[in-house]
Amino acid sequence: MYTVHLQASISYDILIGPGLIGNAGKYIRTVFKPCRACVITDSNVYPLYAQTVCRSLEENGFQYDTYVFPAGEQSKNLATLSNILEFMANQQLTRSDIVVALGGGVTGDMAGFAAAVYARGIPFVQIPTTLLAAVDSSVGGKTAVDLKAGKNLAGAFHQPSLVLTDTDIIADLPAHLLSEGAAEVIKYGVLQDTELFQWMCEKDWKQKLPEIILRSVEMKKRTVMQDEFDTGMRKFLNLGHTFGHAIEKLSDFSVPHGFGVAMGMAIAAGAAGKK
Ligand code: GLY
Repeated sequence: MYTVHLQASISYDILIGPGLIGNAGKYIRTVFKPCRACVITDSNVYPLYAQTVCRSLEENGFQYDTYVFPAGEQSKNLATLSNILEFMANQQLTRSDIVVALGGGVTGDMAGFAAAVYARGIPFVQIPTTLLAAVDSSVGGKTAVDLKAGKNLAGAFHQPSLVLTDTDIIADLPAHLLSEGAAEVIKYGVLQDTELFQWMCEKDWKQKLPEIILRSVEMKKRTVMQDEFDTGMRKFLNLGHTFGHAIEKLSDFSVPHGFGVAMGMAIAAGAAGKK
């Protein structure tokens, strides 16, 4: 297992390795005393991994509640956020309790934002289940929902207290979800890591998934530690995202984020290369 330590307004570990999800409660217990955990997940991930996480939470002394929302970017809005917050209030969550975001980027962003604003902020744990979330959105504390006017327009910086990335789950992902995440990894390669870029040019890049996740997370960590609140060099991580977000929105989110970023990077590179 790899451990990456990120020191920002909150310092936390990002654990990357096989079989972590079955021991989620044990790792969470190293950071939090037994309390109530609100597990937020979507309709795709719930049947796959929620039971494993909840069982492990229970075995380690946590009480849990589960909130499931319909999978997809269309759910990442103020209406779902409001339902999550009402659910948390009905479960009488307090600031001594935690949120567990179990899923991809939409889940992590929205559950993180709910944690940021509920009771003026409670801690949360990220358990990313996509490559994109593992290498990008689960790390660095950007949380948000979309507004009609655009993506991620309402949000907060709220760092997780722990990130658990189970590489078995990532290795099991269908090809389209791996490709989506690959776009963000290629972004890191283009920005700063020639060797990582070369790995991604190889046909069997998936064989190196744990190392690829580690290298990406290391780079994200360095960037966040230098510019947590995105006023300077963190903006480089938005390479391809301006075009990408426009493509996603104009496609009514039928083009997923990773593919939008891939197209956005190609457009940006084309524009940069024009004389
Ligand atoms: N996804 C870009 C960032 O976290 O800054």
